[in-house]
Amino acid sequence: MNILLATNNQHKAEEIEAILSDLKGVSILTLSDHGQDIPEPVEDGTTLEANAWIKAKEIHDATGLPVLADDTGLEVDALDGAPGVYSARYAGDDATYNDNCNALLDAMKGAASRTARFRTVICYVDSFRTLFAEGEVKGVITQEKRGEGGFGYDPIFRPEESEKTFAEMSSEEKNQISHRGRALRNFHSTFAPYVSSAEEREDA
Ligand code: IMP
Repeated sequence: MNILLATNNQHKAEEIEAILSDLKGVSILTLSDHGQDIPEPVEDGTTLEANAWIKAKEIHDATGLPVLADDTGLEVDALDGAPGVYSARYAGDDATYNDNCNALLDAMKGAASRTARFRTVICYVDSFRTLFAEGEVKGVITQEKRGEGGFGYDPIFRPEESEKTFAEMSSEEKNQISHRGRALRNFHSTFAPYVSSAEEREDA
């Protein structure tokens, strides 16, 4: 069984493949492996769940393949959950990761609380079912950027179980506690019974 990932991000694809690799008979394909031109879904949902579903459903409808999509947001308590579903374009449509970090640090000036969480929602769609899984990591927005690794808001997010920001961690350290790692492990638990029952039917 091939699962097509609704992403061109090779780093994400490798992380997903590593976590799902023990599912017998499951191979992971990226959009570039698939080759065929697939229209880019318009992520106009107002929740992470809606956007993950839009991506998975549209790409499944276009290809007929099982598709897995994810959507992530950084939810800051002092900003009533912003930037949330708008995390990629917090500082504007063409914002860089650095612009977004700077805009968030500015918005947090004088904030009494700096607590926040990264939340990832995964949606899987095939011809028979739609499955969702979620993962989150709680932490704080630091006063300034620290670290060179990772991407996005990593330099200004410190998980509560660590002294380091995500950008100061190795990717292995980050993946063990990250929102996406947790969401993927939750998806693995939800999905594994369907894979083993398909195997059993094939063996019968
Ligand atoms: P996406 O849904 O994975 O494309 O994530 C949306 C936006 O959230 C990205 O453009 C990043 O700004 C931010 N983001 C997602 N995952 C992470 C992460 O692991 N660390 C830091 N920022 C992230």
